[in-house]
Amino acid sequence: MSLHQRQQLPAAAPAELHLSSPRAAFYGAPNRPLSSFLLGRVGLLAVISLLVLLGVFLPGSGSIFTLFSSSSHSQWKEYTLARAAAFAARNGTIVVCAVSHPYLPFLNNWLISVARQKRQDQVLVIAEDYATLYEVNSRWPGHAVLIPPVPDSQTAHKFGSEGFFIFTSRRPRHLLHILELGYSVMYNDVDMVWLADPLPYLEGNHDIYFTDDMAAVKPLNHPHDLPPPGKKGRTYICSCMIFLRPTKGAKKVMKSWIEELENQPWSKKTKSNDQPAFNWALNKTAGQQVDMYLLPQAAFPTGGLYFKNKSWVKETKDMQVIIHNNYITGFDKKIKRFKDYGLWLVDDHGHESPLGKM
Ligand SMILES: *[C@@H]1O[C@H](CO)[C@@H](O)[C@H](O)[C@H]1NC(C)=O
Ligand SMILES: *[C@@H]1O[C@H](CO)[C@@H](O)[C@H](O)[C@H]1NC(C)=O
Ligand SMILES: *[C@@H]1O[C@H](CO)[C@@H](O)[C@H](O)[C@H]1NC(C)=O
Repeated sequence: MSLHQRQQLPAAAPAELHLSSPRAAFYGAPNRPLSSFLLGRVGLLAVISLLVLLGVFLPGSGSIFTLFSSSSHSQWKEYTLARAAAFAARNGTIVVCAVSHPYLPFLNNWLISVARQKRQDQVLVIAEDYATLYEVNSRWPGHAVLIPPVPDSQTAHKFGSEGFFIFTSRRPRHLLHILELGYSVMYNDVDMVWLADPLPYLEGNHDIYFTDDMAAVKPLNHPHDLPPPGKKGRTYICSCMIFLRPTKGAKKVMKSWIEELENQPWSKKTKSNDQPAFNWALNKTAGQQVDMYLLPQAAFPTGGLYFKNKSWVKETKDMQVIIHNNYITGFDKKIKRFKDYGLWLVDDHGHESPLGKM
């Protein structure tokens, strides 16, 4: 099935041939460099015949380049989650993130770190606006999908705003949808950087794996159960990095998360985000045959620990797997902090990104 679906994608490829992306070769570009193909007489003839043929079958379509770009745009507009998931899945597992256009630099930064672990092929970007859908897919065909309806892009990226809440509340629905398609899924926020491959850390056969957002230092051999509730009566598990297997238990947690979000609608006063609802969902499903696994703190520390406790970082040297740039708000502050810690990769290592240099 996935082979079949992969074969349907090349229709969008012609517009992408100029890109240096490794995917371009995969999508039917000749093995010889494209330029020598085009410069050869046979190649030139072939291109002219193709243009003539297109002119015959698609008269009045104007420039061939607008033809290709608009046909690929409409193709991506109809690209479904089912097809995208089948395309990206490796060994039944997808790595997803959800981004709106202002976050493309963070997506790019995260992707460079994912590519260093050779996991980029199984990444699926859930585009939260059409600009992101088209830009990612034109640079890296097949790796972005948009699940309608589109949230209001003006407000979606302002933390604490109503738009941000609507944007984040889509997360459990998307994840549930992917589980219902039968895939395991790792969700990541894009203000993260991988230092190692996280997949080998998903030990055992649990339904759901998550990380603690509490900055308090735990012993290296801490338990892997849901921690006890904190001051607010609930836990502080991060909704930023979650791994789910397509099991009844994992689906139950996603459904409960959706319910919690519906029961606690956004209000200006509380400046809600989706993390408390996720924690209430974990609290309510913990006793209901859901098998949960808390990932090791040393490998998956909150930003509140990694960026704030130098002696802990020294003690746990080389144990970190994913760094999360949280416990700080603001686009520029996050970038500056990544730069200070040598984790802003887009300037000097842009060529490693599957999106190409942006
Ligand atoms: C594929 O998935 C299975 C089950 O989740 C896992 O045990 C195995 O290690 C995975 N293989 C690779 C190559 O990732
Ligand atoms: C769920 O939350 C309640 C209220 O804070 C708490 O008493 C209970 O222990 C929690 N249950 C679990 C499994 O964490
Ligand atoms: C920082 O880390 C050290 C070493 O792990 C720990 O003993 C200390 O309590 C931590 N400091 C804070 C403020 O959490």
